[in-house]
This record gives sequence, C-alpha cells and structure tokens, in this order.
Amino acid sequence: TYVIAQPCVDVLDKACIDECPVDCIYEGERMLYIHPDECVDCGACEPVCPVEAIYYEDDLPDQWSDFYKANVDFFDDLGSPGGASKVGKIDTDHPIVAKLPPQA
Ligand code: F3S
Ligand code: F3S
Repeated sequence: TYVIAQPCVDVLDKACIDECPVDCIYEGERMLYIHPDECVDCGACEPVCPVEAIYYEDDLPDQWSDFYKANVDFFDDLGSPGGASKVGKIDTDHPIVAKLPPQA
C-alpha cells in the first residue's frame, strides 16, 4: 500500500484525491489517510503531492515510519467503506497525528 506521512498534516492539499482511481484516500481532521486494503498501488497520487507526503510503504522515510501504522489503524473503526467521497470528512485523526503541534 501507499502511505501518507507527516508533511500532509495541516496542509491537506488534496491534489492526491483527484488522481486516485479507486477513491481510497480518506480525509481526517488534520491529514488524509490511504486505505491499506482499498489502495491498488497504482502510484498515481505520489507525484502530485506538492509536499511529498506520499510514499510506497517500503520507501517510507524512517522518521515517518509510524505513519504506516497511522494509515492502517485509522480504519480500525471505519472498516472498508469502499469509497472516500461518499464518507466525506472524518472529524478525527490517528493519535500520533492528533498530538502533533500545529505544522503549518
Ligand atoms: Fe496531503 Fe499531499 Fe494529498 S498534502 S492531501 S497527501 S496532495
Ligand atoms: Fe490511489 Fe495512490 Fe493507492 S492513487 S490506488 S492511493 S497508490
């Protein structure tokens, strides 16, 4: 799966959303999260992010390794809705994101 990391926090450019063919990039309060089971690894989102927040899981920089778990665990309660646009904004974040000081 692809993973969104810390540079997205408080930026939420959302250019990535328009590129995803399977609508698997979900909006939280302070960042967006890629659904690990719905992402088909097409990679289309990665180059369009202006702050380079998106990485293939194996390429995630070490300092953001927690964000793999953040993207996965974000969906513990949501399950697999099968499309972000119908879900809309989710007014919460993974705890590691929620505790970060303002980023932008
Ligand atoms: Fe965030 Fe980049 Fe998408 S800032 S919303 S991952 S385009
Ligand atoms: Fe969508 Fe990016 Fe995965 S465009 S399918 S979230 S690699």
